[in-house]
Amino acid sequence: MSRTLFVTTALPYANGPIHIGHVMEYIQADIWVRFQRMQGHRVHFIGADDAHGAPIMLKAEAEGITPQQLVARIAAGRPQYLHGFHLSFDHWYTTDSPENTQLSQDVYRRLKEAGLISSRPIEQFYDPVKGMFLADRYIKGECPNCHAKDQYADACEVCSIVNAPTDLIHPYSSLTGAVPVLKQSDHLFFRLSDPRCLEFLKGWIDTPGRLQPQVANKAREWLGSGGGIELGDWDISRDAPYFGIPVPDAPGKYFYVWLDAPLGYLAALQNYFTSGKARTNGETRSYQEFITAPQTEQIHFIGKDIIYFHTLFWPAMLRFAGPPYKVPDNVYVHGFITVSGEKMSKSRGTGLSPLRYLDLGMDPEWLRYYIAAKLNGNVEDIDFSPDDFLARVNSDLVGKYINIASRCAGFVTARFGGRLKDVTPPTEIGEHPSQAHVTLRSVAEASGRIRGHYEAREFGKALREIMLLADLANQYINVNRPWDLVKTSSQSDLEAAHETCSVALNIFRLLTLYLKPVLPELATKVEAFLALRKPLSWDDADVLLPEGHAIGRYQHLMTRVDSKQLDALFAIEPSSASPSPAAPPTISIDEFKRIDLRVARIAGAERVEGADKLLRLTLDLGGETRTVFAGIKSSYEPAALVGKLTVMVANLAPRKMKFGVSEGMVLAASGSGPGIYLLSPDSGAAPGMKVS
Ligand code: MSP
Ligand code: ZN
Repeated sequence: MSRTLFVTTALPYANGPIHIGHVMEYIQADIWVRFQRMQGHRVHFIGADDAHGAPIMLKAEAEGITPQQLVARIAAGRPQYLHGFHLSFDHWYTTDSPENTQLSQDVYRRLKEAGLISSRPIEQFYDPVKGMFLADRYIKGECPNCHAKDQYADACEVCSIVNAPTDLIHPYSSLTGAVPVLKQSDHLFFRLSDPRCLEFLKGWIDTPGRLQPQVANKAREWLGSGGGIELGDWDISRDAPYFGIPVPDAPGKYFYVWLDAPLGYLAALQNYFTSGKARTNGETRSYQEFITAPQTEQIHFIGKDIIYFHTLFWPAMLRFAGPPYKVPDNVYVHGFITVSGEKMSKSRGTGLSPLRYLDLGMDPEWLRYYIAAKLNGNVEDIDFSPDDFLARVNSDLVGKYINIASRCAGFVTARFGGRLKDVTPPTEIGEHPSQAHVTLRSVAEASGRIRGHYEAREFGKALREIMLLADLANQYINVNRPWDLVKTSSQSDLEAAHETCSVALNIFRLLTLYLKPVLPELATKVEAFLALRKPLSWDDADVLLPEGHAIGRYQHLMTRVDSKQLDALFAIEPSSASPSPAAPPTISIDEFKRIDLRVARIAGAERVEGADKLLRLTLDLGGETRTVFAGIKSSYEPAALVGKLTVMVANLAPRKMKFGVSEGMVLAASGSGPGIYLLSPDSGAAPGMKVS
């Protein structure tokens, strides 16, 4: 029976670029989605940016742009990651959209009608200078336990104790330094403690097959084991100023970002339908028909840090909003990725930049393969280890799998007219099966097991099984030594060589089919090389290539990882491996002062036709604009630059270049490795400010 699947990944916050944690989640979901498509199921794979919330508002403010401009700039940077890692999202949208406004307000009204919204005053810290209520992460002070200064309430960096913001000694706002005052305001709550919610959630969580056992256990714990009411009501409103969706009939109140974010899944799906893309993908129904159809399965891939939102708030919101809203079918949770055992740090960034990976020309399918090999269906963390990465890609993927084709294809082309022999196993009962047929059958019969592993997101198991089959194929080739057989003039030896190569290439075709969810581009190359009539889908596992099938010429399919690439990927620049240039002579402060350094906003950025390295930047100096040609094309997507603040030399003599006049230069850092890094001022700086 053909399934209809609506699959999402968590919506990344729109205040920063995609990092390796996101990429891992998208690769996991993408493999599963591609696998389902290969089964003949219809999948709509949807993502979006999570645009709302205080951090995005404050970041935009610091840059002197609107939150919408910031979100648009971040959105413009997304496609390079999505295409770069072959992520087959059908649509990518944003939570800052008319669809999401309508959906969020509608769900709220319905919850209110159901008697599940209450209002009560709460007392909270308020920054009198900024004129806004402060979330805990904007309050610092002295730890009441160990007296370390400048600690956040949620966890003291020195003694690890968790404090209430009001317990901090000498609290201050990290935004302005002002002493916060306690202030009251009415907040709206979703009454999750209502017995109806508890009862529903128990049933939803316990539905067999819905959640991974570990996840269901966690969710049950939160619900309160003894049936007791431990689940508190959920605060869903924030006071202005806030970048979010207005609460209807409540002036100055906005929905907390976590209310509208998951509705962003539906908003994105709706936009996918109204934009006509769903139709292009063969979906003839309307959004309403699709989302209410009982057969439509709604599946969310998320990380372990956001289980709470997806297994309690989200299903309860949908259930009590009532039809046409429907609860999710599955929430599939993954662990976190570390790099060489280290957690990613939000402030320092991560040890593995996905963009740098791509810029270095590293094959995205290596990373897909490596991550897949590490993943299973549980909520386990995985680690990216450079040595392990190199070993798995080079010895398994290239050394075992690719090797099968590279060993045999040449003989078929050179000696057998590019045509394969029929390798169908004999059907007579009692005949002793040949090694060729045993091997071929083992590979074909693994199809069901491998399918089971993919379905259960046990990608590591699937790949281990596939590599064992590749071992089997290589052993078979080793024993039969086609390279020796083709040297003789004996007809039977030649036929044996022909059979060996034909069996091997049939096996290679099957292994390619099994690997296709993980390695879609490679599979496309193999489909061309084997001259297959149509793209491989799962039911092709039941058939072999017919007698006389003509293959194409073998083209190099995949290179090995070079350890130098990994060095470059992780190099701290400037690289200590190369001697640093001789230190330039000292200058006087007066000499330095002759350079007019200014904060500039990049108002426009575009490629320059005919220039490999240059981008044409339009810089706003706080009134005055300049055109500058900067050699940063290799490191920056033009659209992602617009709105950014940087530093420029404003009194550099204009220089006439092939493409126009450059009226200054921007400051950027670079080392011996690839990568150019534009300087940017701390938040608060404004265009035109002098740098000294
Ligand atoms: N905006 C919310 C999600 C809203 S969904 C309606 C959010 N954004 S996030 O950018 O912080 O995280 C997005 C996803 O990336 C989450 O599923 C999160 O678990 C995942 N990851 C973030 N860091 C990760 C790793 N280090 N490893 C794997 N996934 C991680 O939360
Ligand atoms: Zn402390």
